[in-house]
Amino acid sequence: MGEASKKWVLTVTAQTPTNIAVIKYWGKRDENLILPINDSISVTLDPEHLCTTTSVAVSPSFDQDRMWLNGKEFSLAGGRYQRCLKEIRSRACDYVDEKKGVKITKKEWENLHVHIASYNNFPTAAGLASSAAGFACLVFALAKLMNVKDDLGTLSSIARQGSGSACRSLYGGFAKWIMGKNDNGSDSIAVQLADEKHWDDLVIVIAVVSSRQKETSSTTGMRDSVETSMLIQHRAKEVVPKRIVEMEEAIKNRDFPSFSRLACADSNQFHAVCLDTLPPIFYMNDTIISCVEKWNRSEESPQVAYTFDAGPNAVLIARNRKAAALLLQRLLFFFPPHSDADLSSYVIGDKSILQDAGVKDMKDVEALPPPPEVSDKIPAQQYKGDVSYFICTRPGKGPVVLCDESKALLNPETGYPK
Ligand code: DP6
Repeated sequence: MGEASKKWVLTVTAQTPTNIAVIKYWGKRDENLILPINDSISVTLDPEHLCTTTSVAVSPSFDQDRMWLNGKEFSLAGGRYQRCLKEIRSRACDYVDEKKGVKITKKEWENLHVHIASYNNFPTAAGLASSAAGFACLVFALAKLMNVKDDLGTLSSIARQGSGSACRSLYGGFAKWIMGKNDNGSDSIAVQLADEKHWDDLVIVIAVVSSRQKETSSTTGMRDSVETSMLIQHRAKEVVPKRIVEMEEAIKNRDFPSFSRLACADSNQFHAVCLDTLPPIFYMNDTIISCVEKWNRSEESPQVAYTFDAGPNAVLIARNRKAAALLLQRLLFFFPPHSDADLSSYVIGDKSILQDAGVKDMKDVEALPPPPEVSDKIPAQQYKGDVSYFICTRPGKGPVVLCDESKALLNPETGYPK
């Protein structure tokens, strides 16, 4: 290639959602390929409130693969990144852009370097499954750039090798990660169970908890569980297979009582496995569970499902907007912000739920009465400042390519961060 032809830069920008498992993945049977010991099912969260945006660029002028995360350069040396890059490159196809006068053959992709810039629209420190959206977005964006023709199932199996839960972020709505049987992982892929319109009554409220101790990473935690817990074997072999069938059925029929029962039970069993691990792992904050459990039991049927990941944040799924408004009233009563906080930064995302709850400002929060399920004899305990903020959201769509140039994180002329 001559000097003049070194000038071109091609870029693609994509946006990918996070997901929250309602039947958990916990435990690998192969650490390198990231193959799980059971199937899992997740809900995709609306990317408007929680997503990763990734721009990727290729140019003959780049001399190495480089990545920037939230503006800072980040090493791609890790095995998980290398594996994803290698898998995508091996599937690249011929690419022709007549206008730019660019032609890249399948073979040439192997020697071209890429720049990657990624940004989360939520604080990474909040511990909200940023690796799932991140790896899914990386794989999706690179696949578009390199004209990869394989289907989403294949892309999911590549994202899986970045982080297991990432494979479920390639779909909107509800996704299932099928554990597969093959030793090479070729059948360990994610599929969509239903799109985001299928059950759009659901409202999701995430409680981001304030005090965060140093947590055990999912990768280390589940490795310890597999090595030391007896309960995890029983869970993977006997419990999860039945729950997967029931959960698929509950989603298909929009059967909230079953959905809630299964999601709560599975989150609790995942935490039982954590406690059964040596050394024991403590992730969950049970004050939120008690509040939801008490309310659900006082109603004829459950109003809210809860699920916790590898951290103290709670993800609460309300059966509809009405239940979400009642939930928010309860959450604001039990977990009020510090007095100097303002409501607009305490409840973020879809703020219309606040209106439904009839809460306009901090005065309204202070005036909230204890919910009826709280007994008159024992005064309700409140946990001021325990929650740092709430995010109101809903089930959302899968990955998309963003064509709007202003959303790109890399300069289209240079291929470096803007
Ligand atoms: C508790 O996908 O983060 O969120 O595969 O080692 O990267 P690695 O782990 P990761 O684990 C997620 C565990 C979980 C449950 C779930 O998302 O299913």
